[in-house]
Amino acid sequence: MYEFAIDTAAPKAELYRELVRAADALTAGEPDGVANMANTAALLWEYLPDVNWTGFYRMVDGELVLGPFQGKAACIRIAVGDGVCGAAAASGETQLIADVHAFPGHIACDADSASELVVPVKRDGQVIAVIDLDSPSLMRFDKDDARGIEALAGLLAARI
Ligand code: SME
Repeated sequence: MYEFAIDTAAPKAELYRELVRAADALTAGEPDGVANMANTAALLWEYLPDVNWTGFYRMVDGELVLGPFQGKAACIRIAVGDGVCGAAAASGETQLIADVHAFPGHIACDADSASELVVPVKRDGQVIAVIDLDSPSLMRFDKDDARGIEALAGLLAARI
């Protein structure tokens, strides 16, 4: 078991600095990508308030396939271009969705999800995975969350 002194009530910039530091400590020197995604999903689940799903989809043979996560069992395969995750994979851009029900093609894996943040993980310019966060609250995620998860994606690009 690992414990981190992360203040979940800290301002977001500080919270994400701490999360990235913890993810760095957990994944440094570990070559197994599944282990690194699993521990990162657990960190996000434990320390981010108001989320109901945290995890990864990996790019496998041209489609997104479910990776390590915390939350309810979820859709296994998502075509590039489908839903919020598929939009992130197709565009290579972060998707910050205030209300998933207003997003055309949103894939409802958990009926509780109301807002979503999906950040692509890129290696050598290619999307190799996406990090997906869901919340039961509308407008849960903002630019600070996007920046924080993008920093995490940058760290993990060479470790998953
Ligand atoms: N809602 C996502 C699907 C994945 S789940 O949220 C875990 C989407 O629209 O891509």
